[in-house]
Amino acid sequence: MVYSQKESPGSRRLLLSCLLLAAWGTGSGQLHYSVPEEAKHGTFVGRIAQDLGLELAELVPRLFRVASKERGDLLEVNVQNGILFVNSRIDREELCGRSAECGIHLEVIVDRPLQVFHVEVEVRDINDNLPRFSRQEQRLDILESRMPDSRFPIEGATDLDIGVNAALRYKVNPNEYFDLDVKTSEEETNILELVLKKILDREETQEHHLLLMAIDGGKPELTGTVQLLINVLDANDNAPEFVKSIYNVKLLENTPSETLVIKLNASDADEGINKEIVYFFSNLVLDDVQTKFKINSTSGEITVKGELDYEDRKLYEINIDAVDRSAFPLAGHCKVIVKLVDVNDNVPEMAITSLFLPIKEDAPLGTVIALISVSDRDSGENGQVTCSLTPHVPFRLVSTFKNYYSLVLDSALDRETTPGYEVVVTARDGGAPALWATASVSVEVADVNDNAPAFAQAEYTVFVKENNPPGAHIFTVSATDADAQENARVTYSLVERRVGARALSSYVSVHAQSGRVHALQPLDHEELELLRFQVSARDAGEPALGGQVTLQVFVLDDNDNAPALLGPEAGVQAAGVSQLLWRSVGAGHVVTKVRAVDADSGYNAWLSYELQPEAGGARSPFRVGLYTGEISTTRALDEADAPRQRLLVLVKDHGEPALTATATVLLSLVDSGQAPKAPSRSRALVDAAGREASLLDVNVYLIVAICAVSSLLVLTLLLYVALRCSAASPTEGACGPGKPVLVCSSAVGSWSYSQQRRHRVCSGEGPPKADLMAFSPSLPQGPSSTDNVKSFRLIWPGLHKETHFLFVNLVIYILYFSE
Ligand SMILES: *[C@@H]1O[C@H](CO)[C@@H](O)[C@H](O)[C@H]1NC(C)=O
Ligand SMILES: *[C@@H]1O[C@H](CO)[C@@H](O)[C@H](O)[C@H]1NC(C)=O
Repeated sequence: MVYSQKESPGSRRLLLSCLLLAAWGTGSGQLHYSVPEEAKHGTFVGRIAQDLGLELAELVPRLFRVASKERGDLLEVNVQNGILFVNSRIDREELCGRSAECGIHLEVIVDRPLQVFHVEVEVRDINDNLPRFSRQEQRLDILESRMPDSRFPIEGATDLDIGVNAALRYKVNPNEYFDLDVKTSEEETNILELVLKKILDREETQEHHLLLMAIDGGKPELTGTVQLLINVLDANDNAPEFVKSIYNVKLLENTPSETLVIKLNASDADEGINKEIVYFFSNLVLDDVQTKFKINSTSGEITVKGELDYEDRKLYEINIDAVDRSAFPLAGHCKVIVKLVDVNDNVPEMAITSLFLPIKEDAPLGTVIALISVSDRDSGENGQVTCSLTPHVPFRLVSTFKNYYSLVLDSALDRETTPGYEVVVTARDGGAPALWATASVSVEVADVNDNAPAFAQAEYTVFVKENNPPGAHIFTVSATDADAQENARVTYSLVERRVGARALSSYVSVHAQSGRVHALQPLDHEELELLRFQVSARDAGEPALGGQVTLQVFVLDDNDNAPALLGPEAGVQAAGVSQLLWRSVGAGHVVTKVRAVDADSGYNAWLSYELQPEAGGARSPFRVGLYTGEISTTRALDEADAPRQRLLVLVKDHGEPALTATATVLLSLVDSGQAPKAPSRSRALVDAAGREASLLDVNVYLIVAICAVSSLLVLTLLLYVALRCSAASPTEGACGPGKPVLVCSSAVGSWSYSQQRRHRVCSGEGPPKADLMAFSPSLPQGPSSTDNVKSFRLIWPGLHKETHFLFVNLVIYILYFSE
């Protein structure tokens, strides 16, 4: 910029004269001019020739010239008029910089005579330079935490001008945070500082933009500006914050490890490490929480670590600190409340607290057998336990109190039917799915002596052959007792009674333990055909119970009695007795009858009579009825027959082997003239014959009556046999001791069909014999029996038993009447 300055001629003149005087005064003739910088080309500086006292005309001839050491071309002299003027732009700042004095030194030289003049041209400053800042913008980093009145230096501007042109003032645009404070130092330089008026908040405004203006003192004033960029640095003045202060989380118990519970998210308004948050369990967190949960300090994820058990603990409170990473960290807090939700994970527990076992079979209903308590650690439905029992047991559960039960007897027990029960108690909770537990109780039923010893049959029929050895085992009774142990330990004893004149115990004995029945002495069929007695069985219970069985011991006949001869003079007859006989009697005359009995029965008592042949071999005129024993004549006697006849009659039973007796009958034959020696006998015989004739009519009726009774009996028997066969036991074919069975009894007598025969075959005990026995227990027995009675004992082998009976009866009567 070029400034031209016009000075008034008066003042110039005064100034020039002063300068001249001064120049002369120094002797060197120095001139001073002044010119403002930036003057235009041709700007007048001074009349240099005149001022030096030189004539204008002389200038050229004397070679007037101006030389400048530095920048000689800046000023020029017009040799025509001797005026110094500005030749080219003069910049004071370029020429002299910031020095206060600035001049251009000119040497003016003229020849002939050579003269040198020094001219000083002062360059005056004009305000041509702006205040200037070294940078376009200035950056300042200020921590937000700085206190008010904190000062921050900023760089000022420079002005190339000098003096007032370079005297700078400053100002910033108005703002609420900063003031500008300018101090001037001794060196006249400015010290600029920004003063904080109020606390900064990075979180509110991170950057402040200010405009700093420098204004110089020139006229007109020039300004320079610079941007102040104030960056607010973060201070850790914000604590991390959670959105909520309490987080509620529901979690199923038994949630596996590593399951995410919650992801926490705290935020921090700060920045940098001041907003980097790490999460921790607070110091308030108890140890047991730390064993169950863990937190990822960087992600804020809380995960399950241990086993969560609702039954152990239902609620966890976890205090969390969120801390930033700054050197002076701040923390935020929250609380996570973890509520566990019950899962049906606990099996009901069952305890049998008391057992009252064994239970007696006669225990009354409602007797308590066991006390049971149940529990379930779960809650709600999951912890509601119901108990049940195995079906079909005579027990039931009674709830005595919540979760307490007693097992009581519900129906009557019988140890003999069921000696024990395995009772299973099931406890089931109400969860879905339900869990259950079982406990089993072995209920042992204790025996009570409620069963008497029992025999398989009320009555047993035993057949024993007479003449048994003393002490022979004849039968074994056996009673069973359904009870146990002592209550079932049966002992046997004889029910004592009198048998005739003797005690029963003299016949038989029973072994107390084994029940073996022994005959103490040889039994005699002829003395005792049937021994009927009772054996009692008692158990060892308290009180003892007993039972009885009847034994019918039939003493079977053995052929142990020889036929015995009877008669008024039996002993004599046996020895041989003489009998008188008319020689005139015809053939078929019954002379006498040999009477014999056999104490045995059946075949053994069935006698037959035989005439022993005479030693002489002569043909005897007598014969004896095979079964009647009647001796009769076979022909008419004649003189040839010896007057004394001796007949030997052999009486033989049908036993095996047969026993015999021999009767000797002596007959004396008398002629008609001779007086009979024994008329009584003959008369008796005749009388008997007459009586027989009169009795015949009566006997016909008798036969009819007996036959009627017999046919009734036959009918009954037939009916019975039919029934018997249809209900035949399957074991009948087996070979064993053969259970004798009583068949029937009637008014006439008892009939007994026995399996004795088969029994004998099996035991190899003698030849098979009678199938049937007919007897009459009501009739007197023993050797004193009459013939009629004896005749009932006849048995005809090989015939069907009914017909046999009929037949035998008929035979008996035929024999009777034929006599
Ligand atoms: C955390 O919360 C902030 C604001 O509340 C949200 O912007 C950010 O996405 C959240 N982060 C996560 C991981 O939830
Ligand atoms: C924590 O979480 C971060 C990010 O989710 C993951 O990279 C880091 O492995 C986790 N740390 C642990 C110890 O699990």
